[in-house]
Amino acid sequence: MSIDVTRLHPLFFARLDGVDLANVDAAAFDAIEDAFAQHRVLHFPAQKLTQEQHVAFSRRLGPLEVVTMGASIDGGRSTLPEINRVSNLTLDNKIRAADDLRRKYSKGNQLWHTDSTYQHIPSKCSLLYAHKVPSKGGNTEFADMQTAYDDLPEAMKRRIDGLLVEHSIFTSRAKIGFSDFSAESRAAHPAVQQVLVRVHPVTGRRSLYLASHASHIIGWPQDEGRALLAELIEHATQPKYVHSHKWTAGDLVMWDNRHTMHRAMPFESLDEERDLHRTTVQDIGNTVELLQKKVA
Ligand code: OGA
Ligand code: MN
Repeated sequence: MSIDVTRLHPLFFARLDGVDLANVDAAAFDAIEDAFAQHRVLHFPAQKLTQEQHVAFSRRLGPLEVVTMGASIDGGRSTLPEINRVSNLTLDNKIRAADDLRRKYSKGNQLWHTDSTYQHIPSKCSLLYAHKVPSKGGNTEFADMQTAYDDLPEAMKRRIDGLLVEHSIFTSRAKIGFSDFSAESRAAHPAVQQVLVRVHPVTGRRSLYLASHASHIIGWPQDEGRALLAELIEHATQPKYVHSHKWTAGDLVMWDNRHTMHRAMPFESLDEERDLHRTTVQDIGNTVELLQKKVA
């Protein structure tokens, strides 16, 4: 397999041509891992993957999350347990009504976020595979948290050094006015803590670890912590740090949840289908616990 790497944004995001994700040998896998450390978001065009092949490739990057939240809202699932269906289709492939609960829940994806920071063990990366895409709109935007960190004034870097943040899925959903969670799902998702600044395990670069799920800063008055998080998110999502991906069916985009943020862009049409499948690879541990282990 000969792989061509084309950087599509000055700071991050590359397209990899010449890869068939259903057949990746050891050399190609190493090349993908190197490209991933360097560019943080990779676009693989023209893939033809079954659900099993999508899951099998993802598993080579680490253990996968099993999806519970979306399935609990739908009351069932139409994919393998490791696949999160990011879609405006129902379980039996009909377009969801405008007031459909799952459609409302998914609006949360339009806030800048990082996947699964609200889980004790957050996510290393996500792999989103496009089955059906609308003719207009519905892009996904990505923001580079490494350059956003590098560009902070030194005084701000000192101010945020060592800070811990509380994250919760209910924080991000409250922001869009969604609160239809069962008592079970509330109990299953207690708030967790994550670090505010992460260090890349391969390159050593630092990045801001932010998400719509971030609620406040541990040990600070809530309003002050919220204000600082809002200021950092505004800084980190300026257009110069952002790349917008326009989807074509067959695209698989793999992003680093430790060093980028992303958000879904809306699309107008209520009668066009948008059906993507996401696998989510777990990180190696809770970020606060990992930091404590290194310090100890
Ligand atoms: C996701 C997500 C954005 C989109 O799948 O994690 O945020 O554009 N998707 O669908
Ligand atoms: Mn997401």
